[in-house]
Amino acid sequence: MDWKKYRSMAYWLCINILKILFRHGRQLMLRAMRHHWLLLGVCGWALLILVFVGKLITFRAADDYGDKGVLQSWTEPGTKQGKAAGVIRPESQDPEPAARPSLPPLDPEWLSVSEKRTELLSSMCKNSSLSSMTHVPISKFVLDRIFVCDKHKILFCQTPKVGNTQWKKVLIVLNGQFPTVEEIPEQLVHDHAKNGLPRLSSLTPQEITHRLNTYFKFLIVRDPFERLISAFKDKFVKNPRDEPWYKSSIAPVIIRKYRKSHRYSALTPSGLHFEDFVRYLGDTAGRHHMDQQFGDCIIHWVTYTELCAPCAIQYSVVGHHETLEQDAPYILRAAGVEGLVSYPDIPPGITRYNRTKVEQYFSGISKRDIRRLFARYQGDFHLFGYPSPDFLLN
Ligand SMILES: *[C@@H]1O[C@H](CO)[C@@H](O)[C@H](O)[C@H]1NC(C)=O
Ligand SMILES: *[C@@H]1O[C@H](CO)[C@@H](O)[C@H](O)[C@H]1NC(C)=O
Repeated sequence: MDWKKYRSMAYWLCINILKILFRHGRQLMLRAMRHHWLLLGVCGWALLILVFVGKLITFRAADDYGDKGVLQSWTEPGTKQGKAAGVIRPESQDPEPAARPSLPPLDPEWLSVSEKRTELLSSMCKNSSLSSMTHVPISKFVLDRIFVCDKHKILFCQTPKVGNTQWKKVLIVLNGQFPTVEEIPEQLVHDHAKNGLPRLSSLTPQEITHRLNTYFKFLIVRDPFERLISAFKDKFVKNPRDEPWYKSSIAPVIIRKYRKSHRYSALTPSGLHFEDFVRYLGDTAGRHHMDQQFGDCIIHWVTYTELCAPCAIQYSVVGHHETLEQDAPYILRAAGVEGLVSYPDIPPGITRYNRTKVEQYFSGISKRDIRRLFARYQGDFHLFGYPSPDFLLN
């Protein structure tokens, strides 16, 4: 900045000297010709030097604000897996370096928030007293949850009920299937035969390992209990017409096993109650067999740990739904795709944690059932830094 100021000041000075010379040229030339020719000479030399220095400055500026900034941030400990490899590659720097707008460095404040999350995750993964809840192998089920963007070397693990549809749209655009997020037809987002968004499970073991080791990897989480409420509302209360099996097949199985009183349900075959759902979710032993029967529908309520194996896969960034306004642009920036696509507008207030809502849903449910539920989802609370909901447990 300072150099630029000096340069323009010097130009301004020279131009003014030249102006004065031309304006009063005749009189001055007559009177003190020699003196002014000397000034003009000095001015010429100054201009030459400034042009040279100016070139040097432009060169240095490109060095400071170019791709190098990204590389530095991403080679710091803890986050060096992921994009670093992609940034080093010449192809990511080559396309018209001069015409490319220089990107601002990663928001340092959010970078530290993000690093704290990944540090917490890796320290919790090492805690042996939690390992039964946190250690999940990279199974076919997990590989089915992860979507691939080869073009930009990104892996995204799907955690339903946490704004995943929007992220899938972002990846569909990045894969080149559609020019913008708005142009993707709603029914195509989840149609994996047509949306050009492959699952990691569709690749060979070598291809999978290579991508897990070198790509930028991320997932989004939210308060685990609020997510369960959202899954319950979405699948058993609102339930869209194109997914009738939640109400017609799954709900009756859960009701038959977990509803305390069958007296009224025979008369009013109402839908699933949140209480039935909580009892089913908290029944770690009894649930296993039912979950096998329910197939992939369970992705809407099984733990983040079961979906994404966060202790086996080193995720580069863990986004939080509660801070999506900051996380969405940060993730796009960290993945090196800022400017290529934007995350859809987030309606104000929808990402905020609502304790009143959580209290309402759990009121009337026995402490025993809530504690069992917490025991089942405890791993998610610990791994991702969500405070345990003591207001429900005690
Ligand atoms: C491991 O987790 C348990 C249960 O949350 C906690 O009490 C303990 O302090 C943790 N240990 C370490 C070393 O963080
Ligand atoms: C929180 O949830 C309650 C109950 O569902 C609702 O009435 C209230 O408007 C919500 N608050 C906010 C800030 O969204």
